[in-house]
Amino acid sequence: MSRVEPRAAAASGKTFYIETFGCQMNVHDAEKVAGTLMARGYRPVETHEEADLILYNTCSIREKAAEKVFSRLGTLKKAYRNNPKVIGVLGCVAQQEGERIFERAPQVSLVCGSASYTKLPDLLDQLEFGNKRVTGLGLDTDECFETEVTRRDNPFRAYLTIIEGCDQRCSFCVVPTTRGPERSRPSDKILAECRRLVDEGYTEIQLLGQIVNAWEDASPARRSFAELLGRVAEVPGVRRVRFTTSHPRYFTPEIVQVIDSHPALCDQIHLPVQSGSTRVLARMLRGYSREEYLAKIDCIRRAKRAISISTDIIVGFCGEAMEDFEQTMTLLDAVEYDQVFSFKYSPRPKTSAVGFGDSVPEEEKGRRLSALQEYQRQIQLRRNQAAVGHDFEVLVESFQPRLGQAVGRTTSNRVINFPGAPEWVGRYFHVRVTAAGPNSLVGVRADQADPGGVTP
Ligand code: 5AD
Repeated sequence: MSRVEPRAAAASGKTFYIETFGCQMNVHDAEKVAGTLMARGYRPVETHEEADLILYNTCSIREKAAEKVFSRLGTLKKAYRNNPKVIGVLGCVAQQEGERIFERAPQVSLVCGSASYTKLPDLLDQLEFGNKRVTGLGLDTDECFETEVTRRDNPFRAYLTIIEGCDQRCSFCVVPTTRGPERSRPSDKILAECRRLVDEGYTEIQLLGQIVNAWEDASPARRSFAELLGRVAEVPGVRRVRFTTSHPRYFTPEIVQVIDSHPALCDQIHLPVQSGSTRVLARMLRGYSREEYLAKIDCIRRAKRAISISTDIIVGFCGEAMEDFEQTMTLLDAVEYDQVFSFKYSPRPKTSAVGFGDSVPEEEKGRRLSALQEYQRQIQLRRNQAAVGHDFEVLVESFQPRLGQAVGRTTSNRVINFPGAPEWVGRYFHVRVTAAGPNSLVGVRADQADPGGVTP
């Protein structure tokens, strides 16, 4: 950091605006980029109109997401034709498109992928020096993005990266080529950051990694991922720990055991399956069959605590026959997920599946997606309705003034709305569920509920 200090004065008074697309890793990267800028004297602003430096932190997981940044850049081009601003493209589209971004959007001055964020101070030096084309596009790194300052946006839930990059090479996925190789942070650093976060007032910690459970301890303690979860949960003051995203290939019974024995570890696991067909899974290079995946689910279902399970599913992957899709539908019954994030397959550059073609027509992908979502909606409705009459500990995350409703989350990651007050945000309450929809619950504070019945 000392190298950038002399430049801090140069940037003082300058403002920046950052907009993020995509996953939680991206959201947290933006918090660290913001911290890096603030350490140099930049001030965050809420709109691009007020900003000297405009940054887009991009996602390229599907084509639609990747195109978003170009539509934003088009808007900026019109708005600032006579008053050019410094514009940067960060993240996965930056890495994927590289210098081609300058051709498509000549008003851009900075293009930097997440594997080069450690070089951001140098790149900012060059920008402040007046350089018009600055890039950070190297992928060959063994470093994680560590910052002295992180500007966390949420005052009670802190994201904490434990592993960056991905080595899996699933045939549909762009991430290994946009985020670089897996790099794990040592457990002592992670635990020290947890303690700092508690001191700053955070009670919920969400451990992040593209493949969070592929984490390996580089410190002499050589802790396993399950041991790390236990240690984080034991940090005094930590009330909730979540982790995302787990890969079934690395999902071990020890993870379930540690959740069972540590109440601060949330009763929630996100375990992307992608398809219910072993044939499709093999073409996706996922490294497990339908049966092996179901055996992991069985292990979670045998836990002493009920654990809520969510997943990601891709429909219409190249070569997905109707029988394969049916296998995905029957998997929904077999698992009974609490939440499913589902997507139409979108071919991505430099992935091995591009060579297979894109055989399922767009309308058919749409039909399969709607059928899957409708079926899952009913499963969720049933599962949520089973929660009516039960009490849950809820952390209030926001307040809707128009409705007078607090909006919070149970440990199992269900959203629940209940009559509340603005000052409840960040506090914990026991809430009794009075009604349920497929995507959220309605309730009332348990200490104010009618003891005789469910409806207040
Ligand atoms: N097309 C559609 N969905 C994709 N995902 C990843 N790559 C693709 C793709 N090429 C989905 C997977 C992953 C989630 C983050 O995005 O389901 O788990």
